[in-house]
Amino acid sequence: MRLKHTLLAVALAFGASSAAYAENLKIGMVLPMSGPFAAYGEQILNGARLYLAENDNKLGGREVELVVRDDTGVAPEISKRAATELVVKEKADILAGFGLTPSAFASAPIATRAKVPMIVMNAATSSVTEKSPYIIRTSMALPQITAPIATWALNNDIKNVFTIVADYGPGHDAEKQFVETFTEGGGKIVGEVRTPVQNPDFSPFLQRAKDAKPDAVFMFVPAGEQGVAFLKGYEQRGLKEAGVRLISTGDLTDEDVLDALGDPAQGVMTSFHYSEAHDSDLNKKYVESYYKAYPNKRPNFMSVAGYDGMKLIDQVLQKTDGDASGKKFVDAAKGMSWESPRGKVTIDPETRDIVQDIYVREVQRVDGKLQNVEVDVIPEFKDPVKEAAKK
Ligand code: PHB
Repeated sequence: MRLKHTLLAVALAFGASSAAYAENLKIGMVLPMSGPFAAYGEQILNGARLYLAENDNKLGGREVELVVRDDTGVAPEISKRAATELVVKEKADILAGFGLTPSAFASAPIATRAKVPMIVMNAATSSVTEKSPYIIRTSMALPQITAPIATWALNNDIKNVFTIVADYGPGHDAEKQFVETFTEGGGKIVGEVRTPVQNPDFSPFLQRAKDAKPDAVFMFVPAGEQGVAFLKGYEQRGLKEAGVRLISTGDLTDEDVLDALGDPAQGVMTSFHYSEAHDSDLNKKYVESYYKAYPNKRPNFMSVAGYDGMKLIDQVLQKTDGDASGKKFVDAAKGMSWESPRGKVTIDPETRDIVQDIYVREVQRVDGKLQNVEVDVIPEFKDPVKEAAKK
């Protein structure tokens, strides 16, 4: 009886709405867990679960329940159905994940209609964040990643470039930004090709690139096995021997496939926001905890986007006293900053996209292990496409 009275008093003191937040926080994750992009789902979940494990499975004081739906990769209809089921049947408070752009595009209208926050943890086409006012991105925007490697090329005696990109949103973004930054700085594009998103055979494209005799090939393909096939083809077709350099976004030399790329990756220059070798105390701690939790996996940029997505939710809910309703959540997230394993990050209050340091890196062996060694940094860099649109 006494206990009942006490509970009643507590409920009255905190008001009915606070009592509602005693409920679990349900986060519905739409991710590729099978098919050619299954590693994306694994890495993002590894990062998200690591953050939860470090925080007693609570975000903003609320106990968390993750509900994961497999969208199998590039399958917008499956992603959309998964997002719909998560908000309608599962009553998820927040949607999260989204490995590929088509998945984020297809799910955005669901977030808008249901007014739930949608945390994008990989899909990186610039316009993803414009598809719903409830989207916040903790990964990257392709133009943000691409501009710095074009500038690096201009400063390193690369005058003619042949571009090869995957024929969909992020590839188009990478190509456009590379061409823009590179030609504005006086560089010349000697050829441009686009490859199928799934199951591409790179040999004919690499042959065309070789025949054009560029100083370098710039490429973007979605992280994973395609990059391994690309680098193999680049070696076998003799581009390296012919003195054609390879430059790319860091999707190519992602730690998830870096060991599989092997020695041919040495000397490849990329620009990116995360490296396992990033020299900070927080990253050292992150890498150590990651290996402890997942001994057979290397931490990569997707794991960090999953980890930071949980960190973002945690900080926002601390600010809103546990309220995850769409508008309140997004308003509280705008302008939020924290230290990530990648460096300082901020949610741009105008675009809801992430502002972060972009690093130029070279693949080198460090203590016998291939690493993306950071050689330069462009601090707090915003998506240049959105910056140009503001003008
Ligand atoms: C995307 O589909 O937006 C995407 C996928 C893989 C990447 C980058 C972007 O490595």
